Amino acid sequence: MDITEVILNDHHEQRRMFALLDEMHEASPADLNAVWSRLRVLLEVHAKAEELLFYPELLTLGKGGDDAASPEEETSDAIHDHNEIRDAIAAVSKHATGSDAWWDTVGQVNEVNGDHMAEEEREGLSDFRRHASLELRHSIALAFSVFEAAHANGITGQDVDPDTYVQQHQ
Ligand SMILES: [Fe+2]
Ligand SMILES: [Fe+2]
Repeated sequence: MDITEVILNDHHEQRRMFALLDEMHEASPADLNAVWSRLRVLLEVHAKAEELLFYPELLTLGKGGDDAASPEEETSDAIHDHNEIRDAIAAVSKHATGSDAWWDTVGQVNEVNGDHMAEEEREGLSDFRRHASLELRHSIALAFSVFEAAHANGITGQDVDPDTYVQQHQ
């Protein structure tokens, strides 16, 4: 196992779930709720697992990626994005499922999450592949997968101040 592969696979599953919603514009609110609830859990648990298990190691071992000067910048960018994703997810629940406003806010989650995944893949994941051992990548992958299994029913997403996070994990 390799944490960079586990994260990539999660990202693919998130993209696949947004694609599924694209096919559901005529679907019932119950069906939409089923798919959205699952996607919400995937997004929130994935971000939390990264904050607990991936970014602390990146801060220690990273050297900066293609368009980030340092692991601190990569991490701060990511935590900032995770907050945007959590806030966009929270906004979805303010609207009736299947309403125009609901679809708009789901689209905003897709947009901020899509931008974030691309940056994370280009920065943190790339940096980690080049500077972390396969043994460490394996052990984090295991812990990450166990965390996701343990929280398969979801968590309460909570924003984290990016600067405080970086300071606490240096
Ligand atoms: Fe991610
Ligand atoms: Fe992330």
